Amino acid sequence: MSDRGSSQTISRTAVVIPAAGRGVRLGPGAPKALRALSGTPMLVHAVRAMAASRAVSLVVVVAPPDGAAEVRNLLDAHPLADRDSTRTDVVVVPGGATRQESVRLGLAALPADVTTVLVHDAARPLVPVDTVDAVAAAVRGGAPAVVPALPLADTVKQVEPRVGERAGEPEPVVGTPERALLRAVQTPQGFDRATLVEAHEKVAVEGEGATDDAGLVERLGVPVVVVPGHEEAFKVTRPLDLVLAEAVLARRRANDGF
Ligand code: CTP
Ligand code: MG
Repeated sequence: MSDRGSSQTISRTAVVIPAAGRGVRLGPGAPKALRALSGTPMLVHAVRAMAASRAVSLVVVVAPPDGAAEVRNLLDAHPLADRDSTRTDVVVVPGGATRQESVRLGLAALPADVTTVLVHDAARPLVPVDTVDAVAAAVRGGAPAVVPALPLADTVKQVEPRVGERAGEPEPVVGTPERALLRAVQTPQGFDRATLVEAHEKVAVEGEGATDDAGLVERLGVPVVVVPGHEEAFKVTRPLDLVLAEAVLARRRANDGF
């Protein structure tokens, strides 16, 4: 076999799923990724959504720092759906205090033969497989960083935030970016592995860390491109998002019945 041929066969696509957050905005209860949607933990939906892509051969789940054993047991108790014809390995590692730290710990667990990495929020359990495939294909097609995104429904204002003692006071508006130029970004975001690892090594973000991996790559000066996202890739953040997620699952069940 030629060198080119053998390097093709050893390049793999893996997904890192940060799932170590508490879900403060969702309200009190279990860590967000472990909460049930239609009787199945959100994280299991998310892992299945990734395993459904033929491109994905490995999923690294980043569990709450003290919850790796619990997450491992949970995943063993919920096998991947039969759509996983190609068999996907699932590894669990403990996460960190911020999303950025959790992703970094997930990247550290990737085996050497992984060349393309997707990073996908456990909190986006219903992303359609077509979106996963489109992101993976764009990276394999040569883009170093790819994000799925949608145009905004709301107009966005930049403000001077009133926080701490002044929280709740009217906030002065600083500007209004032209809505047509804006996109709301989702996950999975896809990367050339070496580029994403370099971004996580070199770019330090103050405070709560980066909420978006592509943002780190942008700071390296590496081009990032957007591909169409999907409504069903929304992030479960607040209680009303649980209502929407249940409705999406109910609609899928109804459609599957036909
Ligand atoms: N995440 C993580 N490690 C952290 C914080 C967040 O792995 N220390 C993950 C979450 O589990 C989630 C994703 O990053 O899948 C997106 O974060 P977000 O929606 O903000 O989830 P939480 O941080 O859990 O929610 P909140 O900010 O409301 O507490
Ligand atoms: Mg958060």
